[in-house]
Amino acid sequence: MQNFTYYNPTKLIFGKETVTKLKDEVPNYGKKVLVVYGGGSIKRNGLYDEVMQILNDINAEVFELPGVEPNPRVTTVRKGIDICKKEKIDFILAVGGGSTIDCTKAIAVGSKSEHDIWDIVTKKAQAEDALPFGTVLTLAATGSEMNAGSVITNWETNEKHGWGSPFSYPQFSILDPVNTFTVPKDQTIYGIVDMMSHALEHYFHHEKNTILQDYMVEGILRTVIETGPKLLNDLENYELRSTILYSGTMALNGMVNMGYQGDWASHNLEHAVSAVHDIPHGGGLAILFPHWMEHSLDANVGRFKQLAVRVFNIDENGKSDREVALEGIQALRDFWNSIDAPSRLADYDITEDTIEEMADKTVIANPTFGNFKKLTREDAVAIYKASL
Ligand code: NZQ
Ligand code: ZN
Repeated sequence: MQNFTYYNPTKLIFGKETVTKLKDEVPNYGKKVLVVYGGGSIKRNGLYDEVMQILNDINAEVFELPGVEPNPRVTTVRKGIDICKKEKIDFILAVGGGSTIDCTKAIAVGSKSEHDIWDIVTKKAQAEDALPFGTVLTLAATGSEMNAGSVITNWETNEKHGWGSPFSYPQFSILDPVNTFTVPKDQTIYGIVDMMSHALEHYFHHEKNTILQDYMVEGILRTVIETGPKLLNDLENYELRSTILYSGTMALNGMVNMGYQGDWASHNLEHAVSAVHDIPHGGGLAILFPHWMEHSLDANVGRFKQLAVRVFNIDENGKSDREVALEGIQALRDFWNSIDAPSRLADYDITEDTIEEMADKTVIANPTFGNFKKLTREDAVAIYKASL
């Protein structure tokens, strides 16, 4: 295990009717509140009215930025920064999924910077401060509610990049499983794939002595595999929604991956696909991750074997490590197929035509990527071809 310092300042508020806690939290940060949200799901399910009523009750002066896109765009971030600077906003409240929260993180940091936010996203400039912000999460997937990461897309350059800073943790996040009841089946599937992919990204590393971390990551995977299919047949089940919501947060809030670094090549490969084709993040991961696994198997067959045995209950008797490992990868694929996740790039009408363009995007930041196995542009081409 490597040395580490763990610090996560986000106050997590979980459970039924916790949105009412806004009245205790928001006044700590001032009067002028910018509410950021997406394309209208919170208006349809009543959460918008609930939040606005509470903000009204505490006499907040409310400004709004609606219309944050799935795969949030830098143009929308800039709109939010303009509002914050012009109106001297004290606090930003994100009400939505990962896209709304990621957009809010960029607005919060950009509002306290002289640099254009895209320079911060692309790491040409550094975040120096941020407006305080909180979240009311409506979709279990990214973990953005309790981490400092944010992923922003620029459609002028067809680039999608992750970035983060010590200033981009939410002050608080309110997670009421009831607010996820209206997440449609397809988005619920993408969320399940995304949180499992975060656990899998952690799992592939070469660090020795990560016994507890391994069991915790395997625990998240086993929990989601057990709960996900039940939830997809019963979308308004509180217990099932709460298990998945908690799993999504735990998969990417830093708790299970202390003392080692996971791989993250599959996320880089997926962000490049989304940057060109604007597909849902979880959908892209379901297609790419098993192919990354097959491509990277020989970097350490033992990790794949352990996953196969401990998470997918593959019987190892009389088989080579490689055979067991391959059965595990197939079991992951079978599970994602069984919940109707996409399995081929063709499911999004992506053909060979854009493979070179997507591969270029994977190496914009660095000529190699991935920590478990260093990949190059040629590896990206091979994985995309296998995923067609
Ligand atoms: O925009 P609205 O109308 O709200 O609808 C959204 C959107 O269409 C809808 N939705 C959300 N909550 C709902 C709901 N519909 C009904 N009822 C509800 N309660 O779902 C759609 C997708 O929302 P989005 O926020 O885009 O989904 P998600 O949370 O999966 O976020 C995806 C984004 O996060 C990035 C991805 O790359 C992608 O851009 N990621 C962020 C990470 C992070 N910050 O740590 C890590 C991840 O790996 C990921 O890359
Ligand atoms: Zn992800």
